[in-house]
This record gives sequence, structure tokens and C-alpha cells, in this order.
Amino acid sequence: MKKLPLLGGITPAVFLRDYWHKKPLVIRQAIAGFTPLLDTKTLFALAAREDVESRLVSRTTKKPGWAMQHGPFNSLPGPAPKSAAWTLLVQGANLHDAAADALLRQFRFIPDTRLDDLMISYAVEGGGVGPHVDSYDVFLLQAHGQRRWRIGAQRDLTLVEGLPLKVLRNFVPEQEFVLDPGDMLYLPPHYAHDGVAIGECMTYSIGFRAPAYQELGEAFLQFMGDTIDLPGRYADPDLKPTSHPAQIDGAMLAQIAEQLQKVRFTDDDIAIFLGEYLSEPKASVVFSPPTRALSAVRFAQSAARRGVALARKTQMLYRGAHVFINGESFGVNRPDRTSLAALADERAINGASLAGVSEDVREALYLWYCDGWLSLGPV
Ligand code: SIN
Ligand code: CO
Repeated sequence: MKKLPLLGGITPAVFLRDYWHKKPLVIRQAIAGFTPLLDTKTLFALAAREDVESRLVSRTTKKPGWAMQHGPFNSLPGPAPKSAAWTLLVQGANLHDAAADALLRQFRFIPDTRLDDLMISYAVEGGGVGPHVDSYDVFLLQAHGQRRWRIGAQRDLTLVEGLPLKVLRNFVPEQEFVLDPGDMLYLPPHYAHDGVAIGECMTYSIGFRAPAYQELGEAFLQFMGDTIDLPGRYADPDLKPTSHPAQIDGAMLAQIAEQLQKVRFTDDDIAIFLGEYLSEPKASVVFSPPTRALSAVRFAQSAARRGVALARKTQMLYRGAHVFINGESFGVNRPDRTSLAALADERAINGASLAGVSEDVREALYLWYCDGWLSLGPV
């Protein structure tokens, strides 16, 4: 892969080898001449929506010193003294804005299974969320105005008690940088940081996801619960009278243990589980079906000319003979696999490449179109 200005002139391979999960990187003018993709009016309008996750973090003069509210916000505080400085955090801006989506996708040298969302923060002078660590890697791109970042590799991650947000009790900054628009800071997980707005500013966080094993395990057992097949029912034709009626007898235990040990899972089960799990849209996501959907025949004719493109909110993954889209999975044969893998990787496919797909895939594409999961491509 070629060297990217986005990564300060190094290749993704070098970035992943030397920095990813390892150490911070400041990239001056990662995007030269960067200007905000959304103006504040548009950002505040997003924060007023039910289907957009937003938070307002403010400093308070009264104890405990910080306050946090969850959106939607129909109004926001105005300019504030430093003692009441506030910041608005809008999650998932990429789901609602084409330019924000395009920016997030510049980071697709990292797989979609790891990429989470683009969060936009707006802060008044002195605004921030306090010194903290995140569980995930993050790229912090300065979009407007300036922000002073102080960062440190401390081990002591004790939090201030009684706060509505996670603020480190003993923050020990080791480095300090002032970021201008277009500058970007990469931080590995659990690296302490505190960003404070110098004047009004906006920062874009390119965030990643790394599911906790416990969360995966619980979801996997639920998935297996829906798929296991254990025919038959407990039986004891040789039952003998008991003088300890409350005791679970050994024969019962042995028989049931033998049956439960038939619950097995293969790598294929794990692949299907993972594909469905990781492609599941977040709870707040609402798709927009076409206002006047074409008939299946008209759709197929148009798709053959224009191709199709995945909706911004669609998550599509694949593995071997399995294709996953928005939490659903299905098995596909080899020619279909090539076309659907191309659609998932490129997020669009031209009409010619759809020519050879099976009737099943044609039907699926039409259903996805009707659900707003994809649309016809450009003419
Ligand atoms: C912010 O943009 O204000 C906070 C981002 C972060 O520190 O993770
Ligand atoms: Co952070």
C-alpha cells in the first residue's frame, strides 16, 4: 500500500507495525487545509434528533465539578465562562452525512469489523471531557479551531468517584500538543489524554470497536441456543424407588450430561455468529426505504444499467461461503460470492458485475433495496 498523507507520509503497514496499539502519533496536516464537513448548525440539528446519540458534558462550579446529559437536545447552552465550559459529543455522524462517511472510510486500511464511527465534538473555550482513557484506539482529527492535548502513558487509571463520566483522579501528562485544523493525533487504547478547547473548536474522533470477550461469549451462547438441535426427552424406564426423593440422582445427571455434551460448535458456527453479530446495526439505526419503490422487474432493469450502492448505514461482511448484511447471514455459491464480496468491499457494484448473479441474489438485492439497505447506483 502506498504512503498516506493521512498517516503523516507512512504506509498503513508501517503505521500498524510501529504505532497501532503501541504508541501515540501526532500527524501535522494529515488532511491539509481541512475545513469542517458539517457546520455547527447542522451538527446541532443532528443533536436534536431521536435517532442520533448525543451527550453534553459541562463543568460545574458546584461539586462534583462535572455534569453530563444525554440528548436529544432541542437547545444548547450559549457561550460560557471557563467554570461552566461545555462540549457537545455527537456519535455516528457518518451514518447521517455523506462527507463524514467518506472521511471514516479513508481509514478502511483497518477492517470494517474494527471500524466503529465518526464522533464529532463541539466545544466552547475551555470545553473538554476531562482527563480519561478510552478502551479503544482513536484518531482525533482537529476539524475547526484549536485544541490543546495533554497525554501520558500512566498505569494508574483510578477514577474520580461519584462523577457521571470517567475522569482520571491522578492525571500525569507527559506531552502536550496544540492541534490546528487538519492535524490529527492517534492514541492507542488506555492511553491517558485530556483535550481542552482553545476558543471554540470541533474535533472528529475516528473510533474503533473491540468487543469484550464476555459480551461475545454471552451473545454466542444465545446464538447457539437458537441453532442447537437436541432431539428426544429424558426417560428412566429402569427407575427404582428412592428413599431420598429430593436428591438429584446420579443416573439422571449422567444421562443429561451425555446429551448436553452433544452441543458442539465449529469454526463455521463461530464465523456465522461473528458475521451476524458484527454486522448488526446499532439500536438507534433506522433505515430509509425508498419513498416509491420500483417493482422487482423495474429494479432489476435499472440495477443492470446503474449497479447498486450500499446505504451508509449498511454493514456488509463476508467470510468464505457466508455473506452477512445488517445482522443477517446467508450461504452463497462461488460466482455469487465473488459479486457479493466485491459489493461488500467496494460498497458498490456496477451493472455489468451483477449480470451473472443467481436468481436468489437478485431477489435478495431487491429486498435490500425495499428495506433501504442499498440503492440504485449513479447513472
Ligand atoms: C472530545 O472530542 O472532546 C473528546 C474525545 C476524546 O477524548 O476521546
Ligand atoms: Co478519549
